[in-house]
Amino acid sequence: METQKQLTIGLFGFGVVGEGLYKVLQQTPSLKATIKKVCIKNPTKKRNAPADLFTSDKNDLLNDAEINVIVEVIDDSIAAFEIVQTALLNGKAVVSASKKMIADNLPAILALQEQTGLSFLYESAACASIPVIRNLEEYYDNDLLHSIKAIVNGSTNFILTKMFEDKLSFSEALLLAQQLGFAESNPKLDVEGFDAVNKWAILINHAYGIVSHPDNILFTGIQNVQGTDAAVAKEKGYDIKLIAQAKKLKNGKVAAFVLPQFIPVNEPLSFVKNEYNGVVIESGFADKQFFYGKGAGSFPTASAVLSDIAALRYNYKYEYKKLYHHQPHILTNDFYLKVYLSFDDWKYIPREHFEWIEEWHAQAERKYLIGVIHCNQLVESDWWKSNNTSLVLTPEAIIDNLDIVHLKKRSLELAGLN
Ligand code: HSE
Repeated sequence: METQKQLTIGLFGFGVVGEGLYKVLQQTPSLKATIKKVCIKNPTKKRNAPADLFTSDKNDLLNDAEINVIVEVIDDSIAAFEIVQTALLNGKAVVSASKKMIADNLPAILALQEQTGLSFLYESAACASIPVIRNLEEYYDNDLLHSIKAIVNGSTNFILTKMFEDKLSFSEALLLAQQLGFAESNPKLDVEGFDAVNKWAILINHAYGIVSHPDNILFTGIQNVQGTDAAVAKEKGYDIKLIAQAKKLKNGKVAAFVLPQFIPVNEPLSFVKNEYNGVVIESGFADKQFFYGKGAGSFPTASAVLSDIAALRYNYKYEYKKLYHHQPHILTNDFYLKVYLSFDDWKYIPREHFEWIEEWHAQAERKYLIGVIHCNQLVESDWWKSNNTSLVLTPEAIIDNLDIVHLKKRSLELAGLN
C-alpha cells in the first residue's frame, strides 16, 4: 500500500478562501497537512492567525525545500500564474482556486504539468463545493457525455434570487453578495458573466477535451435582465438563471456558451437558489444526473481546496483523459438558438438576422419577441447587449442545423404563413 505523504503547505492569500482554509485545516488534524507560511500582499492588515505565520516575500515559500505543496488563492491572475509556474518548476505540487488564471493560461498550464509530472489541482475553481471536475475527469467516458447545463456563478444566482423572489433591488442584492464574500473584488466579473465563462472554459476541457480561451466562448451576464423579463418568465412558468451550457451536436462538434435562460420551474436547475450552484449532466444511458452544492463563500470553497490537498497525499493528478486519450471535441458556433429578446424600440432589433420570429408583443412600453437566430449572428455583433436590450434563451435553446429546415416549416405553418 502506498504510504500517505506528509504535506507541508505554503499558502498564498489570506482572504475569504485563504482564511477559510486555515480554519478548516485546523479542524482536520487527521489530514497530516500543516501550513508552514502564508504569503500576503498587505502585511499591515490585521489577521486572525499568529503573526509569525505571515510573510510578504513569495520566495520564503517558493524556495523553502520543506514546503512540498503550494496553495494559491489570490485575486491577481497574473501574479497567480507566476506563482504556479515557479512552484511547479521548483518541484512543488500546486492547488489553486484562481479560475481566471487557469482559464487564461490553460495551454501553458497543461504544458507545465506534462513537463514537471507534478499535480496541479483546482476543484474549487468551478462550482466551489461541488466535485464536478473530478467527476468529469473520472466518471464520464468521452462518448457518453451528451450535454452539461450548469449554474456556475454563485453571486449572479444569489442576485437573481434576491431580486425576483425577495424583491430586493439589484444594488441591494449585489451589496449583500459582496458582504457575504460571494462576489469577486470587482463584481463586474460576476455580473457581466466573465467569472462564469472562465469556469466554463475549465469545465469543457474536462468534459470534452476542448482547450478554448474564454474570449472564444459566447457569453453575457445578468446586467440587462429586467423585472419585466422576470414577469414574462413567471407567466410562462419559468425562472431566469445564468446558465452555462455545452452540448454535443449531431455532427459531433460541441456548442458551448454562457447566457441567461428561462428554466421551467419543475427542472432541477430552477431549484438552485441563492449562492448555490447546480450541474445537470445528460449522458448515454444514465439519462440526467444533478449535482448541487454551494458555489461560493469561504468554507464551501475551502472544502474543495481541502479535498484537493487530501488527494495530493496519493499524488492524484488530472489525466485530461478527453484531451489526451480520446479524440478531443471541436467547439463550434455553427448552430441556431431560440431566444427571447426584450427591448425598448424595434429600431434596435435587426429583424433580418432572425431565421424566423414566432411570437412578438409590441404594445407595451417594453416589447419582446421570441425567435430563432444563428449563433454567429450573436458572436459577430453586440446589438443584443446594447440599448437596454435583454436576451434570454428559451428552454429549447439549441437547434441543430439538421433540424432547422423542418422546424422552420412547422413554425411557419403554425403561424399560418405557409
Ligand atoms: N464570485 C464567485 C461566484 C466566487 O460568485 O461564484 C466563487 O467562484
